[in-house]
Amino acid sequence: MDQADQLRKMVNKQKKVRKVSRVITVTSGKGGVGKSTLSVNLAIALSRMGKRVIILDADFGLANVEVMLGIRPQHNLADLMFRGKELKDIITEGPEGVGFISGGSGIQELSRLTRDQVIYLVQKLYELDELADIILVDTGAGIADTVLEFVSASNEVLVVATPEPTSITDAYALLKTLNRKSDFVKENTSIRMVANRIKDAEEGENLHQKLSVVVEKFLNIKVEYLGGILNDANCQKAVMQQDPVMLSFPNSNTASAIQKIAAKLIDVQLDNDDKSGIAHLFNRWMKTIYKKKKG
Ligand SMILES: Nc1ncnc2c1ncn2[C@@H]1O[C@H](COP(=O)(O)OP(=O)(O)OP(=O)(O)O)[C@@H](O)[C@H]1O
Ligand SMILES: [Mg+2]
Repeated sequence: MDQADQLRKMVNKQKKVRKVSRVITVTSGKGGVGKSTLSVNLAIALSRMGKRVIILDADFGLANVEVMLGIRPQHNLADLMFRGKELKDIITEGPEGVGFISGGSGIQELSRLTRDQVIYLVQKLYELDELADIILVDTGAGIADTVLEFVSASNEVLVVATPEPTSITDAYALLKTLNRKSDFVKENTSIRMVANRIKDAEEGENLHQKLSVVVEKFLNIKVEYLGGILNDANCQKAVMQQDPVMLSFPNSNTASAIQKIAAKLIDVQLDNDDKSGIAHLFNRWMKTIYKKKKG
């Protein structure tokens, strides 16, 4: 039995007995549109609804989730992989019981793992599937190839866009690129959109309309609208205070908009199949990376 068989066997065994978490990958075509803001505050809203939520920060550059949550994680994914840390050591507790895992440079290192290391990681991630009901993956700015591959391996993608002129065309470009990825399976992926920094509800709906019409026509992909968040100076203030807007401005428009988005997310019917969960997602992602390496 080669290692691929071994991995398959392990995966098959695990999926029969274990529960998996719901993984929602937050992404955008253009950077700086509010992915981290949404991830952090959505996590808090979902946690208040009784869900066990973990944010996985795949944003290599600015580490802004940490800043927004006002926490300083001791360890990251690389410590789990290479320095003998356990999963519990790399999860930092943030406000309202939200867990946080820093990708650190770990994410980039992950693309260089050996098969044995991948097996080890996937094993660890099965534990994570048991610890969390929902894992929000905050992807970084721009569309680096490894990130795109991660997005295309995801079952649930949340696209953030703003009324800035290029935001929708960039979101379209992102979905178009995704659509070309060999491991992107339209039927298994739900794509939802949040409009951020809008001036009123109508602007958000128009934005969604614009994106969904072209995406449906040219890519045959449906984009569901989850809701909009007004442009709100409290968001910037919250970053300065290192306290998420849900906590520092609980009565703001933004807080209630995010509450609504969370409720809508919880409301969707999921047919959790054997492709769900963070362990499976990583497994799929790693496979694509290997395939590419072999080229
Ligand atoms: N609804 C909003 N109203 C006003 N400002 C906002 C809103 N949402 C986000 N911002 C501000 O926009 C800036 C960028 O937000 P954020 O860091 O969440 O974006 P991002 O998409 O994660 O960026 P990156 O692509 O660099 O990771 C921050 O200063 C944030 O406070
Ligand atoms: Mg960010």
